[in-house]
Amino acid sequence: MNLRSKQWFGKTGKDGFIYRAWMKNQGIPDDYFQGKPVIGICNTWSELTPCNAHFRELAEFVKKGIIEAGGFPVEFPVMSLGETLIKPTAMLYRNLASMDVEESIRANPVDGVVLMCGCDKTTPSLVMGACSVDLPTLVISGGPMMKGKFKGKEIGTSDVWRFAEAYKLGELTQKEFIEAEACMARTPGHCAVMGTASTMATMVEALGLSLPQNAAIPAADVRRKVLAQESGRRIVDMVREDQKLSKVLVREAFENAIRVNAATGGSTNFVIHLLAIAGRIGVDLHLDDFDKFSKSIPLLANVQPSGEHFMEDLYYAGGLPALMEQMKEYLHLNIKTVNGKTVADNIANSPIYDDKIISTFDKAFKKDSGIAVLRGNLAPNGAVLKPSAASKELFKHRGKVVLFENIEDYHARIDTPELDIDENSVMVLKNVGPKGYPGMAEVGNMGIPKKLLEKGVKDMVRISDGRMSGTGFGTVLLHVSPEAAAGGPLNWVQNGDFISIDVENRSINWEVSDEELAKRKQAHPLQAPKMDRGYVSLYIDRVQQADVGADMDFLVGGSGSTVTRDSH
Ligand code: FES
Ligand code: MG
Repeated sequence: MNLRSKQWFGKTGKDGFIYRAWMKNQGIPDDYFQGKPVIGICNTWSELTPCNAHFRELAEFVKKGIIEAGGFPVEFPVMSLGETLIKPTAMLYRNLASMDVEESIRANPVDGVVLMCGCDKTTPSLVMGACSVDLPTLVISGGPMMKGKFKGKEIGTSDVWRFAEAYKLGELTQKEFIEAEACMARTPGHCAVMGTASTMATMVEALGLSLPQNAAIPAADVRRKVLAQESGRRIVDMVREDQKLSKVLVREAFENAIRVNAATGGSTNFVIHLLAIAGRIGVDLHLDDFDKFSKSIPLLANVQPSGEHFMEDLYYAGGLPALMEQMKEYLHLNIKTVNGKTVADNIANSPIYDDKIISTFDKAFKKDSGIAVLRGNLAPNGAVLKPSAASKELFKHRGKVVLFENIEDYHARIDTPELDIDENSVMVLKNVGPKGYPGMAEVGNMGIPKKLLEKGVKDMVRISDGRMSGTGFGTVLLHVSPEAAAGGPLNWVQNGDFISIDVENRSINWEVSDEELAKRKQAHPLQAPKMDRGYVSLYIDRVQQADVGADMDFLVGGSGSTVTRDSH
């Protein structure tokens, strides 16, 4: 076996001494350096990423598996992105974390890597970085929380939005609101619904990057630990078989992931992250592929926010293998996954145990699922909408624009009595895209004004260049490209303009004449955002638009795993 780690640990003389001696201060016997596959465990444990706070313990099970299979485990930390605490948005740092992962893997003596992913951005950042090195790589996700219980009702992250509205209307007291916090987050794990974290855990399983059942086993269920141990055993064999990431992440795997995302009602963030991953591994994937490959796929998982239940219910009902079995005519079945088996092998004999949670293909919960990509003069490079989480009555809609220049403007005016708005208005928010926010925040599902909530309005058309939490819902058009701050047409929308959307025909039309637009551009030239120093200045300069995955232009592709020079 021609191990990469031999270039460190297999050396004689001074270099070999340096590479081995300091490692031995951890109590590692000499034979560990004699040709055992060295497996990096890339850990995003952090107390500031509560969704991944159980990862130190979980890593021990990965290690156990690696040692059992004859490997040498080495755990290392990388930047961990917690969705709930990081300001202004964790997405601003996804690309930075991916650089940390890429360089940490390449620079160190590892032959294969286990990526420990959980909270939203910790999955794409790790997978993106690993793709740019292309070693044998396997993902173990941390697993979702158990569902919460509040006043006899099952709750999860999607209830945050509902509770916030109830609180606004005085239906929930401050005391009840605080009590609900602990009721919702009562176990380790990431969000219990099909938010972005579970969407990402589902994505890696659908891509064939994890062992089967990675998507839904709860973090608190001991079977998650067993999966971690089995993942540790398997990565050692992947190194022996030289099963590199690029052998798993073929074009067909991406098509499978898009279809599974549609069937599970996955997050719109899936689009941005999968495009960025494809860019790193060199697979030609386009925004329109998401619409094309998800079109014929109905919603098969009855999980919030598109449905009613939670990730743990999905696991008990048979998990992702049972769901994928139902849609097997639409999947590439003969591609190999990380366990060395094909998709067909992995989903064979996977019955549904509860058809209220996973449906058969012909009795699907909703016909409209997946991602709709709309285009028109407001979004020449596209905008996305998640039909399964939107209101059918608003699929074809024309309305008068109520404009918010930026997020501060929105917060300042949304609940003022003077705001001229009704249920037919189209709410438009600018400057929340990659460069504009910066970091493309999850503010696209702008809350509905209090005075309309009081009238019973539950949904309205909302348009922005931002994102939406995977736990969010509504008739929300997101990722408008190019964004306002990059000189997209959105920059010149004004209050009182008319916009119409037609989801069926995938169009979005802004009623403005060429002359009027030219006039506006002259009167209000683009004021591009600028930052003088630090990572954020680099980010603003080099980040690409959402329609291609919002990666930095200089990070697309990879640099392989070879490092020729030694350090001394
Ligand atoms: Fe971490 Fe939802 S906040 S997964
Ligand atoms: Mg999120």
